[in-house]
Amino acid sequence: MRYLIILIFFALLQINAFSQLQPSTELPNILRFENGKEVKKIKNWPDRRQEILDIMTNNMYGSSPKLKPADVSFNVFEEDTKALNGLATRKQIAITIRHEGKSATFDMLLYVPNHLKKSAPAIIGLNFSGNHSVINDPQIKLTGAFVESGKNSDCVVNNQATEACRGKNAGLWPIKEILTKGYAIATIYREEVASDRKETAFQTGIHAIYPEYQNRPDNFATVAAWAWALSRGMDYLETDPSINTKKVTVFGFSRLGKAALWAGATDQRFAAVISNESGAGGGKQFRRHIGEDINRLCTVFPHWFSESFQGYKNQDETLPFDQHFVLALIAPRPVYLGTAVEDKNSDPEGEFTTALEADGVYKFLGTTGFPGITFPALNQPQVGQIGFHVRPGGHSVKPYDWEQYLQFLNTKLLNN
Ligand code: GCU
Repeated sequence: MRYLIILIFFALLQINAFSQLQPSTELPNILRFENGKEVKKIKNWPDRRQEILDIMTNNMYGSSPKLKPADVSFNVFEEDTKALNGLATRKQIAITIRHEGKSATFDMLLYVPNHLKKSAPAIIGLNFSGNHSVINDPQIKLTGAFVESGKNSDCVVNNQATEACRGKNAGLWPIKEILTKGYAIATIYREEVASDRKETAFQTGIHAIYPEYQNRPDNFATVAAWAWALSRGMDYLETDPSINTKKVTVFGFSRLGKAALWAGATDQRFAAVISNESGAGGGKQFRRHIGEDINRLCTVFPHWFSESFQGYKNQDETLPFDQHFVLALIAPRPVYLGTAVEDKNSDPEGEFTTALEADGVYKFLGTTGFPGITFPALNQPQVGQIGFHVRPGGHSVKPYDWEQYLQFLNTKLLNN
């Protein structure tokens, strides 16, 4: 352990040009039990992992219903084996969860490439504006859920999607390229799962069927609800023979990247995690005090995290963890943090330090860890079992990001 500390010390010395990158000395240690004992052997890791899971659940994300709910059913209500000019098979699946006399349903859109001879690896992620927004495909059901009018003001009428909304966010979702490269892609609309508005938070979707998880400090908050829905998407994929369920990656951008990280942390069926500019409450380290902090998160989006998290407003450095703990829960599975230099709110350097801090546990668990030592130049990915890049530009998902992610997954999942 002393050796590890010395190594980290030297690594930090090397980044003195980025002195603000140095994490606080108070940074909680992944490989130390709460009673102060070091985690020395791999066989003790599951116990420490459980401690980390409990700490993060109780203080930030809140408790979720059981990972395998008793009553989940799937209705494939639409299927076309020659979608996108024959490139893929499209399925639309209504996923229903029943609990104590109540039920919640949300739709998942799935494309599976037709050219593969065997079952396909898949990428699953939530979307911001409805399944119909990720590609202009007239057969996709328009969501009936609330849609924000802000960014979609030219197509949304009375907060409902119209035909003109089809493919609105296609720029973020290069679906044909993903399929051509041999991956299935699945997506779910966040608002069908749980409301993302302060006024209606906890009242819709899956929150409405689990009221017993509200009104408590570790309440089932919205990021956790989105993550839990991704697990329900995985439940469906496990029933579909066209999918290789050992190779399912969970992906998300921004607030949905926060959800992707928590999905990967809580559900070990996900083989890899891709977080695109997830920032505060996602990949970024809180203790740097740069960009969005806990006060802003809890004030502007009070429903994203549990009530207990509100207690850390303006005291980010008192958290009993930082976001390297989320990566520790994903370890040793591959994880990639993509950032953009102008996305200051997300603090790209703070995502880099998270990767740096998670390197120890990844190496402890026998992987290559994170090769980065200093913050990289633009478009110079640093890729081990943890991947990281910073690209030019602002908050978005660009073709450059997807190129890195698919290359990362090819190396980590397909060639193994
Ligand atoms: C806001 C918020 C971020 C979040 C982002 C998004 O900018 O402050 O935390 O990631 O919205 O989801 O687009």
